[in-house]
Amino acid sequence: MPTVYFQTFGCQMNVADSDTIHQLLSERGFVLSESPDGSDLVIVNTCSVREAAEKRAKGRITEFANKKSGGQKLWVTGCMAQRLGDKLKEQIRGVDLVIGAKQMERISEVIDEALPRNETTPAVFNKSAVTDFVPVMRGCDNYCAYCIVPYVRGREQSVPYELIETAVNEKIARGIKEITFLGQNVNSYNCEGMDFPDLLLKLANINGLERIRFTTSHPKDCTEKLIGVIASSNKFATHIHLPFQAGADRVLALMNRKYTSGHYRKLIEMIRKKIPAADITSDILVGFPTESGAEFKETLSLVKDVRFTTAFMFAYSPREGTGAASMKEEISKEEKQARLAELITVQTEITRSIYEDSVGKELEVLISGKQEKRDEAWMGQDRGCKRVLISCAQVEAGMILKARVKKSSGMTLIAERIL
Ligand code: SAH
Ligand code: SF4
Ligand code: F3S
Repeated sequence: MPTVYFQTFGCQMNVADSDTIHQLLSERGFVLSESPDGSDLVIVNTCSVREAAEKRAKGRITEFANKKSGGQKLWVTGCMAQRLGDKLKEQIRGVDLVIGAKQMERISEVIDEALPRNETTPAVFNKSAVTDFVPVMRGCDNYCAYCIVPYVRGREQSVPYELIETAVNEKIARGIKEITFLGQNVNSYNCEGMDFPDLLLKLANINGLERIRFTTSHPKDCTEKLIGVIASSNKFATHIHLPFQAGADRVLALMNRKYTSGHYRKLIEMIRKKIPAADITSDILVGFPTESGAEFKETLSLVKDVRFTTAFMFAYSPREGTGAASMKEEISKEEKQARLAELITVQTEITRSIYEDSVGKELEVLISGKQEKRDEAWMGQDRGCKRVLISCAQVEAGMILKARVKKSSGMTLIAERIL
């Protein structure tokens, strides 16, 4: 049977796309390979969000291209593939096919063109896992000034409910218990009059779907109705990823984020009132052009006031073609790195103390699998966003257990089963 090796960079949307491609390839007899060496096809699914992400992807593609032997094929997919197109084939000799992210809409035809279905016997697609992703939206219309995503992913499009339900049921049949519903801005989901909170309510009625997550929420579209829905059923994870990017209103306006830090703080207050145990996480960007030292301090005070469970923190990286790329008064690399380091120090301490505060608390843990190398040690996740390690026998992946936290160790809670 032919084999395929995947290397996936970027966000969860890319992980979901790699899975879709994998599934289509298994219909053509391909099985997954653990190593690129000797596999018939190597696919690098790329990200463009920061320059470093592209550098990493290019490095890997070059490495694979240089090692190619036999009839091995090399495909490049995803956001950088969209941005650079067939130029990639000239830049890196050995790339056989470039499939941009926008082609994911018609990926089945694209693969048909590249690999005609001969008399191949389909391989079984049996990814064993208890959690998975289902995209509910593609693209983004927000055009935040720093961001390449709207250019490489295209206009916002909501997936009709029937297709989402089919995808969910197919996953449940394979043993999936928890699904993370994906979109660049899921809060603006709208399909034939169904908005995102309505979609969540319908999803919560699907038998066998035990836990529902979603990402990413945008503060401008995160409503009281949405938070009310999440609070209404314990099928919903108590985790809200709500990127705020910057604490100063002048910077937020330049970024084209369409909310103020006051609005953001009010949203947090509303969420904490309705879902007191919620893990709130965020994306934060430092060193946007013209950001002053004092404005950066506003980002720090917001972080200290809100107390995010965790956050993804980035130094601004100019992306060609975006609104911010032509802005003057860039912040120097050193200054950006210094701000990032200061922010990381502050957030790391908050994360540590929130994990520490979990000791003694009762959690509902979805077991995802065995921890490698140890007997009777199981990994899982609570209803929020925390990783949990439980030692006990007679457990299997997919079970939801009640447990009490004994200890916090790094970014993992050590817990004891109580039910
Ligand atoms: N759709 C999501 C996230 C998109 S990209 C959202 O709206 O929040 C993920 C994160 O990468 C962003 O939240 C932002 O913090 C960061 N990011 C995007 N463009 C960037 C750039 N040019 N430089 C540095 N970080 C960036
Ligand atoms: Fe990028 Fe903004 Fe769209 Fe998120 S909402 S993908 S940050 S443009
Ligand atoms: Fe995701 Fe990177 Fe594309 S963050 S949408 S893979 S640019």
